[in-house]
Amino acid sequence: MSKILIAPSILSADFARLGEEVDAVLAAGADWVHFDVMDNHYVPNLTIGPMVCEALRRHGVTAPIDVHLMVRPVDRIVPDFARAGASVISFHPEASEHVHRTLQLIRDQGCKAGLVFNPATPLTILEEVIDMVDLVLVMSVNPGFGGQGFIPSSLAKLRRARAIIDASGRDIRLEVDGGVKADNIAEIAAAGADTFVAGSAIFNAPDYRAVIEAMRANVAA
Ligand code: DX5
Ligand code: ZN
Repeated sequence: MSKILIAPSILSADFARLGEEVDAVLAAGADWVHFDVMDNHYVPNLTIGPMVCEALRRHGVTAPIDVHLMVRPVDRIVPDFARAGASVISFHPEASEHVHRTLQLIRDQGCKAGLVFNPATPLTILEEVIDMVDLVLVMSVNPGFGGQGFIPSSLAKLRRARAIIDASGRDIRLEVDGGVKADNIAEIAAAGADTFVAGSAIFNAPDYRAVIEAMRANVAA
């Protein structure tokens, strides 16, 4: 399996000290910054947009920024995030009128493209567009809030996604988002995930490094 990546979700960070919080998780060993964009339309919550992404780049963040769009429509905001320094841009197929076109748009803007599957969304369309996908994100909670419990059926879905990715022969990361903790990461990794989003598990802990190290150790064990 490819190297595992830990992507703390800044949704659970202290927004009043966002730059410091991002510096702290990266110094604690995080690989990516997971950036949750919610529009109070596609999901019932409202968070941050391209200006905040750009501000993190200006602050000096050089790590990959993993933008998770929970917005409808999708396409209008993609160039703004590319200009703001996004590395990966992922979206929910239900929120896009033309999934193939949105994937193309993200890649044309020089970013990696990800497709996100909600707990009730089947993986069927993945095979139709797999040549254009750099990342598959399996939601293990319903999108909109941090701190929810991991939905157990996500493990079987991860296994199905892993099989589709492996059959494609392409270099595609399999990311999981929602309810990931140090004490369930081993079974999630065993189901095929290689990229782990964790918000509350990291930011609600007193010692970010201890949680990130425990996560890596439990995957390796
Ligand atoms: C939920 C977001 C997640 C969320 C994860 O819509 O996409 O990234 O922040 O938070 P935890 O790890 O607390 O479930
Ligand atoms: Zn997310």
